[in-house]
Amino acid sequence: MARVSLALALIFNLVSGATAQNQTKGDGLHSLMVAAGKLYFGTAMETNNLDDAAYQVIASNKNEFGMITPENSQKWEVTEPTQGEFSFTQADQVAARAKANGQLLRCHTLTWHSQLPSFVSTGAWTPEMLTAVLTAHLTTVVQHYGGQCYAWDVVNEALNEDGSLRESVFLTTLGPDYIPLSFAVAARASDPGPGAGAANRPKLYYNDFNLETNPAKAEGAAAIVRLVRDSQIPDARVDGVGLQAHLTVSQTPSRADLAAILRGFAALDGGAGRVEVAYTELDIAIDRGTATAAAHNQTQDLEEQQAAEYAAVVGSCLDVDACVGVTVWQFTDKYSWVPATFPGKGEACLFTENFGKKKAYESVLTLLREAARSRMSLIGRRLRYLCHY
Ligand code: XIL
Repeated sequence: MARVSLALALIFNLVSGATAQNQTKGDGLHSLMVAAGKLYFGTAMETNNLDDAAYQVIASNKNEFGMITPENSQKWEVTEPTQGEFSFTQADQVAARAKANGQLLRCHTLTWHSQLPSFVSTGAWTPEMLTAVLTAHLTTVVQHYGGQCYAWDVVNEALNEDGSLRESVFLTTLGPDYIPLSFAVAARASDPGPGAGAANRPKLYYNDFNLETNPAKAEGAAAIVRLVRDSQIPDARVDGVGLQAHLTVSQTPSRADLAAILRGFAALDGGAGRVEVAYTELDIAIDRGTATAAAHNQTQDLEEQQAAEYAAVVGSCLDVDACVGVTVWQFTDKYSWVPATFPGKGEACLFTENFGKKKAYESVLTLLREAARSRMSLIGRRLRYLCHY
């Protein structure tokens, strides 16, 4: 009997795997990622990308991208620029496009010191007043999107590089409790009600950068998960840790080291069980000003190095069960935030400005194709074994 149900489970697994494999006709990043056992491969997208036809051919292709993150339009300065006046026009356009394409949505972001409207950052708040402002903002935004968000980045970039909590109007006014408070408010606002089940509620994430490269900061993020888990604030829980992965060529850790970091987070309990992990904003910039770049100097070398590092990051997600997916922070250099933000750095994406596929794209695709193929053959072997006996 046990053998029959095991065989049935494997047939189901094989059939759903085969379905995933059928989606790989286009052999894209997302369909192969799914066939390799993950939930998604995604990209950031913004309203200024919606009318770019060449961009949309790729962004709307679900074989390539099965998850969309609004790059800026869900941030506080856009959704509530003036106290109590909410605007969802921009983010709704991005969300509607994702929905029309059958893509999931990662929602980004709620409590963050940056891209905050000045009414929040410069207000003379008492703790009670700021608690009310934060509660109203998070509740309204989270309720507006409801179950359309696969996940919310609830608290973003709360850490300094040494792992301590970053100075902000939230920390100064409310102390560290602003973090569990944010998670509790997001949990209540996204609760679909009794009977709906945990599967229908957005996953609540802590999201930050340099967690891949800085152990002190990674420990700080682990401390945030424990802070939320141990909080006395009712309903506070954290479901996931997002590693932004804004990386630089020649400074990316190895696949094994990255997998170890992911496993470290995945061992944590966020109050409702073990947390999941994801790469949420991946890009790997080339810095032509550094000695390493000068040593490589050949464009060829740098692009090959970048390709290997992209494969290391995506590969580390494949290596860790708790890693659900990878999102790139734009897929084309045409819209990358890197050159404007980090002078001297650039060329950080999988596609060129003209939408040509780079070596990095090819290396990720090859990696995923191989991972999908070996998962399928493993399931097939197990099934043949069970049918034989
Ligand atoms: C960036 C956007 O890409 C830019 O367009 C904007 O000017 C600034 O913000 N961490 C985050 C993202 O969580 O929201 C940031 O996005 C990049 C760093």
